[in-house]
Amino acid sequence: MTVDYGPASADELRALQLKRLKATLAHAAADSPHYRRAFADAGVHPSDLQSLDDIARFPFTTKADLRAQYPFGMFAVPMEQVSRIHASSGTTGKPTVVGYTAEDIRIWAELIARSIHAAGGRPGMKVHVAYGYGLFTGGLGAHYGAEALGCTVIPMSGGQTERQVQLICDFAPEIIMVTPSYLLAILDEFRRQGIDPAASSLRYGIFGAEPWTEAMRGEIESAFNLKATDIYGLSEVMGPGVAQEFVGGAPGPTIWEDHFYPEIVDPETGAVLPDGEEGELVFTSLTKQALPIIRYRTRDLTRLLPGIETPMRRMAKITGRSDDMLIIRGVNVFPTQIEEQVLKCPGLAPHFLIEVSRPDRMDEVRIKVEARAADGGEAAHGRLLAAYVKEVVGISAAVEVGAPGSLPRSAGKAARVIDLRQR
Ligand code: DLL
Repeated sequence: MTVDYGPASADELRALQLKRLKATLAHAAADSPHYRRAFADAGVHPSDLQSLDDIARFPFTTKADLRAQYPFGMFAVPMEQVSRIHASSGTTGKPTVVGYTAEDIRIWAELIARSIHAAGGRPGMKVHVAYGYGLFTGGLGAHYGAEALGCTVIPMSGGQTERQVQLICDFAPEIIMVTPSYLLAILDEFRRQGIDPAASSLRYGIFGAEPWTEAMRGEIESAFNLKATDIYGLSEVMGPGVAQEFVGGAPGPTIWEDHFYPEIVDPETGAVLPDGEEGELVFTSLTKQALPIIRYRTRDLTRLLPGIETPMRRMAKITGRSDDMLIIRGVNVFPTQIEEQVLKCPGLAPHFLIEVSRPDRMDEVRIKVEARAADGGEAAHGRLLAAYVKEVVGISAAVEVGAPGSLPRSAGKAARVIDLRQR
């Protein structure tokens, strides 16, 4: 497959977006009972959109809207045309269900192929997919895209960490697609087996599905001798491949704006913010058939940056989800801020867990980490981390340094926070 990065100029891109946005609003109003009602309630009609900025007149869509339509109420095509369903894990309440037509799947594969290409992948390379297969969009999303690019796919899925290492060694893939936290578990397993990760065949890593920091990129790139790029996406908007970073390019994923129209809004008021300002990322799909989505509130916090590699804008690495933000005695804290501090301590491994409790009407934070080696330096490593967290993040935290391997590992998205205050 020859990879196409969309319109060559900003003017062409904006014209294409306007055309596709009009078609999407018309499709939603005509074929989705949910949007017909939502547009009527907001007093808007697809013909009210004359320019891209007019999108701000249309109502937002939230996760609650998708839950209320469980399971298939958001679909805008007859069920016979839905060729695949995915769903979120739904730890709280009902899962969110999404559907795809054959054409939606084709476009998704094309955008993943584009993403793998931007990450450094080329036809003929082998791709080890360690994102989970199943209802989660990571595994199958990556899989179809890698095939579309002309790669050889190794559909490993998450888990069975010993086996992951064996297959990476025996099959010699150039590319790995996995959550950054699970890659760290694979890294531990390389070392446990006495195999040098830097000598592995892996050259490109495509990491996403959870927030990760520049410090973590450094950790991964030096351990594995590969180039790590960030892939972003969410099931409600499509799955992985909504945005992807270019290897060796400007940092921050390029949003595939020919298929998704981004906005940044004030998370409190919903007002649209100018490019460059931090706020909540909102997406409108431009080509989706089965589940057109209008102004979806992702709850992910970031900013829009100018396009460098293409006319399409980039997004800064996600700081965190508004849902994951901890308010500790009035100070806003994201797990990514703790990750940065942990990685500044040479004696600590890149695994951590934040436990928040309120024993005495005061929030207390305990950061659980692991020493890189059981060398008796635990107390000193813990003091160093506590000092960084106090100085840089601005909160007092108790630090508990455990032995290497003492914290739970996840085979997918890492759970970073245990909030005992809600129990
Ligand atoms: O996580 C899709 C995906 C799979 C993306 C594989 C990348 C790789 P959901 O399970 O619906 O879909 O979760 C979406 O995960 O709103 C973000 O909060 C978070 N997320 C996804 N990618 C990134 C990233 C998949 N690169 C939610 N950086 C999103 C930070 C990310 N957070």
